[in-house]
Amino acid sequence: MTRNDHKLIVPFESAIPADRQSAKRHYGVHPYFTRRPHNVVRQYILHYSREHDRVLDPFGGSGVTAIEAYLENRVGIQNDINPLANFIAQGIVDLGNGEIAEYERTLASLKEKCQAQLQELERLSEDDLQAFTRGLRMPENVDLPKNSDVRRYRELFSPRQLAALAVLRGAIDRIRDTYARKAMLLAWSASLAKLNRTFLSAEGRAESRGGSSIFSIYRYKIAKEPVELPPWKTFEERARNVIAAKAEIDKIIEFKSRTTGWAGKFEVHAVDIDDLSKDLTSKVDYIFTDPPYGGHISYLDLSTLWNCWLGPMPSQKACEAELIVGGNLDITEAAYISRLGKSIKACVKMLKPDRWMSVVFQHWNTAYFDAILSSAAGAGADLRAAVPQVGDTIWSMHKKKGNQSVLAGELILTFHKTGKPKKVQRNRTSFDIDRAMAEILSSANTRVMYGEHLFNQLILTAWNKQAISSLHVSKDEFNDIIKRNGWEYDEENHYWVKHQFEDMLFG
Ligand SMILES: C[S@@+](CC[C@H](N)C(=O)[O-])C[C@H]1O[C@@H](n2cnc3c(N)ncnc32)[C@H](O)[C@@H]1O
Repeated sequence: MTRNDHKLIVPFESAIPADRQSAKRHYGVHPYFTRRPHNVVRQYILHYSREHDRVLDPFGGSGVTAIEAYLENRVGIQNDINPLANFIAQGIVDLGNGEIAEYERTLASLKEKCQAQLQELERLSEDDLQAFTRGLRMPENVDLPKNSDVRRYRELFSPRQLAALAVLRGAIDRIRDTYARKAMLLAWSASLAKLNRTFLSAEGRAESRGGSSIFSIYRYKIAKEPVELPPWKTFEERARNVIAAKAEIDKIIEFKSRTTGWAGKFEVHAVDIDDLSKDLTSKVDYIFTDPPYGGHISYLDLSTLWNCWLGPMPSQKACEAELIVGGNLDITEAAYISRLGKSIKACVKMLKPDRWMSVVFQHWNTAYFDAILSSAAGAGADLRAAVPQVGDTIWSMHKKKGNQSVLAGELILTFHKTGKPKKVQRNRTSFDIDRAMAEILSSANTRVMYGEHLFNQLILTAWNKQAISSLHVSKDEFNDIIKRNGWEYDEENHYWVKHQFEDMLFG
């Protein structure tokens, strides 16, 4: 294929099994919310773009899209309004710089300087600890979001944790080698997720294997029985992960340099998606993105744990621009839907003609899908594929508890920019949900089906009949219709199973 043949690309039609843990550059370096499986993202990039193309993720998060694009000889363009997201993405890319031996030497010298001192902190009396802490540089004691268990930032830590983190941070700031210093800062920032009072140990596993409530219930909940992990060991483990990620990145770049030649480039932008087109030097060839899905996760509020200490904190303007429902600023659902539509329009505008855009999305509210699909059509991008990535996602806590009303899989919607805007006709007749679901279920040539898969097909049926705006179905109603059609929910495997007698009756 030549470089200008993008329009001949045949869209992916089936799911790609997710492989979350094999890439050290994403897994284990630094936690972030809703990280996309790198192998799925990479295959989409390879399929819908060419070498040297500009590949953008305007809601970049931890940078999976832009990093994979960069490692595949594209220009990876990362954007996020959350400073933490860009810190992680840039931090991972920077691991391609400097010598691994220097990173190792730096870690060994940190150990020499800090390990004993951190252990000593364990033995200090409360008074001595207070006196010791007075000589350390501490983060600003900012207010936390109103739904947190504690009011101020420093209350997230025990005095020992705060002192240990400050000692380590001071030593890292004094490292001379720029890249080794940045790598150790990345490891220190990853340690913050474990060395605070929101950390909960996982039942039946090693103490250190738990996680912060920030990532499980999406708020600052102080653990009833806080576990204080040993600070040096915790940091050292993160630093080892960072060095392993460096070795992996070095290997990829070295292999490319020896074979096709190395041409990867990386850019970071830190603006509200509405302002991004002004920040870019030119339009882009492919967008793969994963916008925030409504109200579950307030990224900026939850990132205060890092943004406060890494600095600078996001501006008030950025907080107001965050695409969420609720959050500390109580953003309404109507505002979210309108901004979601606007951001999809902005994405299509940033694409060159004849190029492709993939949007990952999942939510019960069909108005969200309506906003995405009609805004893309109105901006001149045709929906060409809708692939449910079901069954391989990280099941949310609720889903693990066997709750049928939780949607866990995502739909990857892929659009082609034709440049010919279409006005979406609003079909005034109501959409017959019972009939549409019965048709989808009876045509399924499988005995098991994920609720997510069915829901996604329902959305697409309604969209194709131009009736998405009249598709309103509650979770209970949706589940009842499936049951009425002779399917039963399997609590263990989280999918629906067709009754045996249906087979006997209908063969
Ligand atoms: C679902 S996450 C993306 C996760 C990412 N796919 C990954 O693999 O890590 C959505 C991101 O959108 C960012 N975001 C929210 N509102 C934004 C806005 N108005 N402009 C730019 N980014 C925004 C959030 O900070 C968050 O990192």
